Amino acid sequence: MIENWRIDTLAQTLVLAADDKNLPSVVYWGASLPLDEDLELLFKAHKIDLTGGMLDENPDLSICPEAIRSFPGQAGTLIHNENGKLLSPKFKFKEAFNEIEENHGTLELIYEDLNYGLSYIAKFSVNQDSQLILAEAEINAKSPIRLNWLAAPVMPAPQLADEMIDFSGRWCGEFQQMHTPWHAGIHCRDNRTGRTGHEHFPGLFIPERGATHAKGNVYAFHYGWSGGHKMIAEELPDGRRQIQFGHAADIETETKTSFSTAPLYLAYSSDGMNGCARAFQRHIRHHIIKLPQPERPRPVHYNCWEAVYFNHNLAELKEIATIAASLGAERFVLDDGWFGTRDDDTRALSEWEVDKRKYPDGLTPLIEHVQAKGMGFGIWFEPEMINPVSSVYEDHPEWALGDTDQILGRNQKLLNMKLEEVQNFLFDRIANILDSYAIEYIKWDHNRVLPMPDAEQTRATYMLIDRLRAKFPHVEIESCASGGGRADFGILERTHRVWLSDSNDALERARIQHGAAFFLPASVTGSHVGPRICHTSGRIHDINFRAWVAAQRHMGFEMDPRELTSDEVHVLKQVTQWWKSERDWLMKADILRLDSTDPSVLAELHLAEDEQQFVVFANKIDTSSQISPRPLQFCGLKTDGYYMIDLINRNDVHKLSRGQSHLKFDGMRVSGQYLMNHGITLPWSFPNQCWVIKGKKV
Ligand code: DGJ
Repeated sequence: MIENWRIDTLAQTLVLAADDKNLPSVVYWGASLPLDEDLELLFKAHKIDLTGGMLDENPDLSICPEAIRSFPGQAGTLIHNENGKLLSPKFKFKEAFNEIEENHGTLELIYEDLNYGLSYIAKFSVNQDSQLILAEAEINAKSPIRLNWLAAPVMPAPQLADEMIDFSGRWCGEFQQMHTPWHAGIHCRDNRTGRTGHEHFPGLFIPERGATHAKGNVYAFHYGWSGGHKMIAEELPDGRRQIQFGHAADIETETKTSFSTAPLYLAYSSDGMNGCARAFQRHIRHHIIKLPQPERPRPVHYNCWEAVYFNHNLAELKEIATIAASLGAERFVLDDGWFGTRDDDTRALSEWEVDKRKYPDGLTPLIEHVQAKGMGFGIWFEPEMINPVSSVYEDHPEWALGDTDQILGRNQKLLNMKLEEVQNFLFDRIANILDSYAIEYIKWDHNRVLPMPDAEQTRATYMLIDRLRAKFPHVEIESCASGGGRADFGILERTHRVWLSDSNDALERARIQHGAAFFLPASVTGSHVGPRICHTSGRIHDINFRAWVAAQRHMGFEMDPRELTSDEVHVLKQVTQWWKSERDWLMKADILRLDSTDPSVLAELHLAEDEQQFVVFANKIDTSSQISPRPLQFCGLKTDGYYMIDLINRNDVHKLSRGQSHLKFDGMRVSGQYLMNHGITLPWSFPNQCWVIKGKKV
């Protein structure tokens, strides 16, 4: 007998089917099927042919491929019993709970292996609004098992794809896209760092041949987990392709009777890569982020890190806060250096008590000053870490995670978050600061990798954050890990913003945030105007470029504002004012990456949720190979609608731009059809400049 289940969103259908009570396979995933499609027939049609040199039947590429069924690729689980014996389960259908109705609901499928006393549960849920499908897997055992690997429900990859795009990166260079051609065998990512990391963002895009940002069929995946993931993209000898995502291998260090994966977020779109990116961004905005005051406009930040580093001086910080407020800042974040004897990065992590040498009367004088200037107050913590040079370590060296002689990272070790004493100690110290002061924001940092991966550590961190959030629901949290090292949906479930990168170099930042837009909306992506001479690259950028790049996301400042010339102050105030006047819709907009005809122009269109307005940011990141600018095609607009568009920063046109194109002098009314099919020719400019074009539907 053939069993089948169908999952639909507005624009996609996913069909699961199996016979003989076996685990089901995804026999169709793509554009919506007719409602009366014969799914049993699809199951039969899905079978591929056999010839010489093959088994007499093709083993199923099921949602959890089973090694015992001669599956010719990576299996969906790797399990041992407590004595180290390999278990090779063969699951059979037990029951299903199907609560999927028109484009929403959940489907739970339960299978069991009576021989080993194991059960496998796959859960699918459909989000009607974002149109993402969430897929999770769970293994339960009668007696404790060691789990080496468990994949979230395994998906097929499209045959018409020539390449896949996944993400790598480094400190100050997050969200780099890697294009890997499909080939026989495995493309594998196994993140051994114990955190999401700059190096291995857990995401994958698979465009079908010819797909672009704006057009074509694309499949995309995100694994919402902060402890390091494993991804397998495999082409089997018979040509079938599978995608597996799960926690990094062997990250479950204890034997237990129950294990589950994080949610695997699945997106399909026939509107190019932007269609999938839009679904991820929307899902974050509407379903992941829970802001304490959702109606409050996102405040402009000031962060003092690159202004003072560890040299905190109350008078100076007050002076800086005064200028920051006059520039337009609405939240002042006191970064590292306020606690213990934290004069540099060699000491004091874990002490979390105000440094009385720097703040003899505590933080109140600074906070009152900040508030008097109309700003809220935020503060930096790095709770999971400890410096061996710290009073806490002296008393409790056993609280540190890993070997005593491990290699340090930024002079620090991790605390073993699983220990109840550690959880309580951290909760009490942080709660004491939050209880004592008017704090509305925490920047939660994580500056080193784990000595070895350990899923319990991540779960324990989640637990601590959840506990703090329950007690202090008014406090927002920013997730930082040396910049964007922890920016996944798992951490975003419990935080509100990511510090995307330690690079405040506008040129690098434009690239990094453009890459992050495959997943992250502007509202959660911090972007600050840095110092004139960038501290992490040595580059010097004009204030216009620095300000406009920050205005493309959740805006803030991070330089010592005392370095600003009056011209720079003028520009910064103007751009900040512009951002504030637009932020209500901008922070809810979808970021659509534009297919730029000129590789030196990195451009994106931020489209309002009601699609009545948009802004295009076109970042010129290099000199062009041709002498005149090429037209830039927009996307996401109505072909039959008209738009009034205008160049917002017309004053930045340089005298070397000598032509007469209309937009240089005035706004214009043009159709969406024209904007998307012909595009707009931007004024000539130096590199490292951003053109800003505002559009309104008329
Ligand atoms: C790393 C972060 O990414 C920086 O922004 C800053 O907070 C430092 N840590 C402080 O030590």
